[in-house]
Amino acid sequence: MRAILAAILALTPTIATSEHILGGADISNGEAVYAEACAACHGADLEGQPDWQTPGADGVMPAPPHDKAGHTWHHDSQLLFDYTKFGGQAALEARGVEGFTSGMPAFADTLSDADIRDVLGYIRSTWSDRVQAMQDMRSHQPGN
Ligand code: HEC
Repeated sequence: MRAILAAILALTPTIATSEHILGGADISNGEAVYAEACAACHGADLEGQPDWQTPGADGVMPAPPHDKAGHTWHHDSQLLFDYTKFGGQAALEARGVEGFTSGMPAFADTLSDADIRDVLGYIRSTWSDRVQAMQDMRSHQPGN
């Protein structure tokens, strides 16, 4: 399974140009997808779960906010995409982080790649220009 996933991830294009991976997202579709698929955990206003920085009794972290109080914008867009498509654990394992139990489910079976880009584009659209610019820099660093 891991080998298959690694092969799939290897096929995913890396960001070599200045074009943003989330550019051209359909923001209103993204907003609808967010309400349907993400708001239950990440909050209707992207505020995350209460005490999101404290692990639950099972050791699993709660869902973080996607607004600027959280750390979504600290990550490059490809990681955000992989996290949403393959789930947190698989996305981290593909980047060499083992032994982390993530509460973030995979949406590969329920959302198309376009829906995933739209919902991440919607989340990004709620950030200030400054935060968007900082996240752009993460996405455009070589190897990121
Ligand atoms: C069942 C609850 C649940 C649902 C539904 C859910 N998430 Fe998450 N998500 C989590 C948890 C818990 C984490 C934190 C886990 C971790 O740190 O690996 C997380 C983490 C993330 C992250 C990476 C952390 C970061 O920096 O923001 C992204 C991106 C993300 N979710 C996007 C989404 C999107 C987009 C949707 C809807 C398509 C969604 N999530 C739906 C629970 C959920």
